[in-house]
Amino acid sequence: MATDAPQAILSRYSHEKVYDFAKGILIGNNVPEDSAKTVARCLVAADLRGVDTHGVNRIPSYMERVRQNVLDPRAVPELTAVTPVVAQVDGKNSFGSLGATMAIDHAIEAAKIYGIGMASVNHSNHYGMAAWICQRAIESDMMSLVFTNSSPALPVWGGKEKVIGTSPIACGAPAGHTKPFILDMAPTVAARGKIYKAKRRDEKIPLGWALDKDGRPTDDPAAALGGVMLPMGGPKGSGLGIMMDVFSGVLSGSAFAGGVTNPYDASKAANVGHFIVAIKPDLFMSLEEFKDRMDYLYQKVVGSERAAGVEKIYYPGEIEIDREEDRRRNGIPFTAGEIKTLNAEAEMVGAARLEVDM
Ligand SMILES: NC(=O)c1ccc[n+]([C@@H]2O[C@H](COP(=O)([O-])OP(=O)(O)OC[C@H]3O[C@@H](n4cnc5c(N)ncnc54)[C@H](O)[C@@H]3O)[C@@H](O)[C@H]2O)c1
Repeated sequence: MATDAPQAILSRYSHEKVYDFAKGILIGNNVPEDSAKTVARCLVAADLRGVDTHGVNRIPSYMERVRQNVLDPRAVPELTAVTPVVAQVDGKNSFGSLGATMAIDHAIEAAKIYGIGMASVNHSNHYGMAAWICQRAIESDMMSLVFTNSSPALPVWGGKEKVIGTSPIACGAPAGHTKPFILDMAPTVAARGKIYKAKRRDEKIPLGWALDKDGRPTDDPAAALGGVMLPMGGPKGSGLGIMMDVFSGVLSGSAFAGGVTNPYDASKAANVGHFIVAIKPDLFMSLEEFKDRMDYLYQKVVGSERAAGVEKIYYPGEIEIDREEDRRRNGIPFTAGEIKTLNAEAEMVGAARLEVDM
């Protein structure tokens, strides 16, 4: 089972407590309760899956956007049906998780009737970990394609100037008695959030993730943030980053081609775009047969002959499922520095602090 490395962990907090804490800070910053619940749920979903880079540690940067009036805490996204299958969501510069929730919920309902549902979202913000959107589709026995664009973090292959983001590509499919398929990956060697996390925790990053401002490989997160991220698979990762911009940016009417604002830059609205599709898996066979086939695929993947030195083969999304089991039971780990920063946010708006309980 994937568990957490002990060195950076100081204390663990129950996910219910972290959720209440996050919701309290959001409400204290004028976010209506319903929206606060959605945003907190999505952030805690990331922490539960071990995607600490996109969990409640994002709250200070999100709240800074609210304080600087570049994200509207009270806005509610607006959905317009374009065809029975296709919807356009105007994010109204609200939190990315609000527009994305509206988009996937609409896509799921359309897919139940027509076999497929699709929604394009513009004027949105960072929605954090993409996998929560696939999880939401799986809860309704739906397959999903989940794309977003993001702020420029790396040049296109052969270039020098930052044009594309670490925009994740995610997709999911339900299974029967085995684990669902969830692939959720940035087209870069690593998500940029992993560099922010290393900086926050005073850790080094592996060489090969990023270059410094002079184009040299670096293991220093601060130097990496001043430089560029590296694409996975050279031109292929670069191409996937451009693909995210075609489907999420160009198509939606949001910013694109390097125009999305970094979530840590609170000087202007982000205008992120998303592209979300739900597909009914029992279009060509019964749901039971589809799930049986998914179970067979899972068994073939994890049961395949292991290469030398490999203890276990994981299915996409499985490491995160194991982490979630562990964290639901044993709590979500945070460093003392992270808790201090988060509690300072709570104090700013008179919300309850996060105290150790595990
Ligand atoms: N909203 C944004 O703008 C944004 C931008 C970048 C990244 N992100 C998020 O950051 C998170 C991390 O992205 P990442 O690319 O660093 O992820 P990652 O490299 O940790 O994992 C990518 C995928 O590979 C799978 N995987 C990892 N190790 C595996 C193994 N040993 N065997 C089988 N499968 C394995 C994971 O389950 C996952 O589906 C994602 O949740 C992503 O949505 C968000």
